[in-house]
Amino acid sequence: MKERLMQLQQEALLELEQAAGLEQLNELRVKYLGKKGPITEVLRGMGALSAEERPVIGQVVNDVRAAIETVIEAKTAAFRQAETDSKLRLETIDVTLPGRPQAHGAVHPLSKVIEDIEDIFVGMGYTVEEGPEVERDYYNFEALNLPQNHPARDMQDSFYITEELLMRTHTSPVQVRTMERMKGAVPVKIICPGKVFRRDDDDATHSHMFTQIEGLVIDKGIRMSDLKGTLLQFVQEMFGKQTQIRLRPSFFPFTEPSAEVDVTCSNCGGSGCRVCKQTGWLEILGSGMVHPRVLEMAGYDPNVYSGFAFGMGVERIAMLKYDIDDIRHFYTNDLRFLQQFVRV
Ligand code: DAH
Repeated sequence: MKERLMQLQQEALLELEQAAGLEQLNELRVKYLGKKGPITEVLRGMGALSAEERPVIGQVVNDVRAAIETVIEAKTAAFRQAETDSKLRLETIDVTLPGRPQAHGAVHPLSKVIEDIEDIFVGMGYTVEEGPEVERDYYNFEALNLPQNHPARDMQDSFYITEELLMRTHTSPVQVRTMERMKGAVPVKIICPGKVFRRDDDDATHSHMFTQIEGLVIDKGIRMSDLKGTLLQFVQEMFGKQTQIRLRPSFFPFTEPSAEVDVTCSNCGGSGCRVCKQTGWLEILGSGMVHPRVLEMAGYDPNVYSGFAFGMGVERIAMLKYDIDDIRHFYTNDLRFLQQFVRV
């Protein structure tokens, strides 16, 4: 009996030695230590042994069982460890692997310049308004003192949708829309950026669609000197403290008097160069004192209130500020152009 047990142990240990994995270990546990295994069988037969033999065989059985169990436990632990190790190895993340580069967008230079201009005027207490790009003839012309058949309409021929509806030719209609909405209240102090449309021959400085920023101030006692001071403040913040302005008499049906405003050339500082065509000055906007008829039509008594207005071309300002030589660069989506503004 003892020899049989010893042989069993040897067999078991040999088989355990060759076990390839946890599953096989489990099978061997069942085979040797399970209910139908040889050890259990021996234990069951203990009753038939003599009183002297029983404790001796009992001891051997326990030893054999313990030996097999010890090996199974040790091997189980070893297999588990190996499994964890290989899992760790497989799941390792190489943190030194370079990431995939993300393409960063940039603010379009026109949007950037609009934001800069808005910031300057908001700093002076203005609010930013918007108006529709498809506009009624009344707001675009009529209420701006440009009645049907007025010759000044020729300069702003547009794309008509119907007789009464057109793509707005300037942002000035927002002046009228704002005054109507304010219903005679003051102060009115707004700027309005937006796209405008004109029949035009496109070239390096002209486009059938471009961007303007309109300004309008109405209150009691607003004077030409307020317009001048406001614009000087604006250009010095936009182009630098050394910048000066010059007002030239002009004509717009919606202002009286009217003036075109030039800034000292940022390229040469006013001494004359190619950019300013040797004049030292660059035109940036049209402006004037709001015409009494315009105030009246929009519900403001011109005997009580006065105001100034201006309209500037955003592309022109962006071209001066960033030394851009062709207005078409703004619209053609050439990445070589746009990427230069990633950090502006
Ligand atoms: N609307 C004019 C244009 O597009 C520009 C302009 C001139 C706007 C004088 C004004 C202004 O508000 O007062 O040519």
